[in-house]
Amino acid sequence: IKRIGVLTSGGDCAGLNAIIRAVVQRAVDEYGWHVVGIHKGTAGLLSRPVEAETLDLSRFDGALLRRAGTVLGTTNKGDPFAFPMPDGRVVDRSDEIVEGLKELGIDALIGIGGDGSLAILERLCKQAGLPLIGIPKTIDNDVARTEVAVGYSTAVEVATDALDHLQPTAASHDRVMVLEVMGRDAGHIALSAGIAGGADIILIPEIPWDPDSLARKIEDLRRQDRNFALVVVAEAVRREDGDPVGRTREGGKVLYGGIGHYVGERLGEMTGAEVRVTVLGHVQRGGTPVARDRLIASIFGVHAVDLVAQGQDSMMVAWEGRSVTGVPLSQIIDQPHQVDPQGALVKAARGLGICLGD
Ligand code: F6P
Repeated sequence: IKRIGVLTSGGDCAGLNAIIRAVVQRAVDEYGWHVVGIHKGTAGLLSRPVEAETLDLSRFDGALLRRAGTVLGTTNKGDPFAFPMPDGRVVDRSDEIVEGLKELGIDALIGIGGDGSLAILERLCKQAGLPLIGIPKTIDNDVARTEVAVGYSTAVEVATDALDHLQPTAASHDRVMVLEVMGRDAGHIALSAGIAGGADIILIPEIPWDPDSLARKIEDLRRQDRNFALVVVAEAVRREDGDPVGRTREGGKVLYGGIGHYVGERLGEMTGAEVRVTVLGHVQRGGTPVARDRLIASIFGVHAVDLVAQGQDSMMVAWEGRSVTGVPLSQIIDQPHQVDPQGALVKAARGLGICLGD
């Protein structure tokens, strides 16, 4: 191995720069390799010349470890195997990406992404005959086999902080405050932030909800002289009739902010409470990375480089049982990790008297 490539793919999150820094540090210092940073994920590999730069440690002054986003840029538009062209056609552009990878003259690729991005990168690297090591990152924490993905802890912190901000104003105005959080098809952010932020009701896609149980919870609170309530709703929660309100993914367009408003309206109708709704949105992706994200990012970055040095391929670094390990990509692709309705967090939420909608 002489040269490795690194890219970030899919939605950004806090901690990506800390991963890139760790990869460069380990590859350059320990192995004496060159590291090529590919810009804008796979989109950079479609440009000619390929958009990339050699990364050395001077690029990573002390500030980058602390900064969210990714210095390399990223994209979550356009699966190269079914790429939407401006004229409406959908074409396979994987050959162009493979050519782009070859142009770089790299011996292995470290791909930083969620399970969707890692699945695409695996197909591309197989086609290019290039070893791939994946590093899981996503605020959604829905990657299988790893207890935590980079970016998740900061997103939970941001959402918890939002609840800390909402509680005093809820109490001052006798209001029900609904906070809609991200998470894609999983309720991890909602559940963790909801427990940490003292929510009264948490709705997650893994547990179907009944409006009557929400109304009963508000009544219970009133009987205890509680004049306000905090409600957290994960973006993938559907209406009680199964309609995915406000979350359409058509023609590449994604609309958010529907289900929080819907739940807020239902609560207002049923209880007569004054309700306000906050949709937290992309704020969750941009917070200053918390220490845990910086740590996991550093551990993953170093281990990914070591797996490349060992000649491994099609593996993802993972945090399991208080240690870092490598797991085959085949064990994480198409196996999104959702909240376990029987798991410890759900049990804790119920133990705290939090209404989970059922
Ligand atoms: O996967 C990360 C995530 O932030 C999800 O929580 C959210 O559903 C989605 O990406 C938002 O994507 P976009 O940035 O394309 O709106």
